[in-house]
Amino acid sequence: MKFNFDKIVDREGTNCIKYDLREQFFVTNDVIPMWVADMDFDVPPCVTEAIIKRAQHKIYGYTLKSESYFQSIINWVKKRHNWDIKKEWISSSPGVVSAVTMSVMAFTNPGDKIIVQTPVYFPFFTSIKNMGRELVNNQLLLKDGKYSIDFDDLEKKINDNAKMLILCSPHNPVGRVWTKQELQKIGEMCVKKNVVIISDEIHSDLILKNNKHTPVASISKQISDRTLTLIAPSKTFNIAGLSTSVVISSSNDLLSKYNNILDTIHIGFGNIFGLESLKAAYSSGEEWLEQLIDYVQNNVKFVYDFISGKMPRIKVIKPEATYLIWLDCRDLNLTDDELTNFFVKEAKVGLNLGNTFGKGGEGFMRMNIACPRSIVLKALERIKTAYVSRFE
Ligand SMILES: Cc1ncc(COP(=O)(O)O)c(C=O)c1O
Repeated sequence: MKFNFDKIVDREGTNCIKYDLREQFFVTNDVIPMWVADMDFDVPPCVTEAIIKRAQHKIYGYTLKSESYFQSIINWVKKRHNWDIKKEWISSSPGVVSAVTMSVMAFTNPGDKIIVQTPVYFPFFTSIKNMGRELVNNQLLLKDGKYSIDFDDLEKKINDNAKMLILCSPHNPVGRVWTKQELQKIGEMCVKKNVVIISDEIHSDLILKNNKHTPVASISKQISDRTLTLIAPSKTFNIAGLSTSVVISSSNDLLSKYNNILDTIHIGFGNIFGLESLKAAYSSGEEWLEQLIDYVQNNVKFVYDFISGKMPRIKVIKPEATYLIWLDCRDLNLTDDELTNFFVKEAKVGLNLGNTFGKGGEGFMRMNIACPRSIVLKALERIKTAYVSRFE
């Protein structure tokens, strides 16, 4: 391996949420943090070099997005996902969640129904509820360790005058990479009833072996023209703190409504270091990403083998994408408060409690394994010790 993902990087004291907010979130610093979705790996060297190079010119004033910035996005999306997009389709946002909220503002009115598919990334709930829209849930189905979409329920909810669907593709936290067939079905249902699709594809570069991500908008012109796709280098290259995300739509109408909100709030400029990092990562970060995916894949296998072999009452939902593992802890027969106590106080690991992801998350935990394997092992050993003393 050219890049060293085994290296332990001390993040404490850098004001990073994952480490430095433990006391506030878990009421103790004494947990291995496996919650917030960023990675404990150094970013690709090309990103650091781009930031340093730009920093050396010592004026950081208002800046345009360069031709090479747009080209790097177009090339990346084509190369990784075989999707042809045009420069005119591209807009921006500091974050993907801010793009979701701006989309809610741009395409719906107070009281409108917006569909999500729980258990799902919980800030979607805030984007909907705080804007005074109605959250409608099309809960995912779980059968034999695999999640799927309840299409009958989705159709009912789309027919019941929904205005928007916030799709999480690939899905956090359940780890599904939706197939082209599934996405086509969703897309066609939405087109038929004129429902706008906001497709959060922030995890689309972190696809594990034998899976293929399809941008929902790449399936047909009709679907593309009803969709706003949100991507970012933030998860992929561990640069969430640079607040740089990309919004894509072939629809002039959708994009101009979105841009109207973006311009009104006046946050379309982006930030210089984020723009340079995006360009560097998308142009020169692919080799690093391939090795990262291999490393994450091996971490997933490691966790799966360890837990299945030693803690059979916890079931690992095998992720098809992301570095987040969804643990089915329902056989432990604990309430969610007891589950939190078990992991935080007895095992001393800091995971996300499943019920924060909405209906269907009760009795689950989400574990972020984007850290050196030695840390993963240490966390698993801690969980096993607590498990043995309580359940065996
Ligand atoms: C599905 C999903 N969307 C969005 C985000 C966050 O995006 P941002 O920080 O760009 O708002 C995350 C972070 O974990 C995520 O998992």
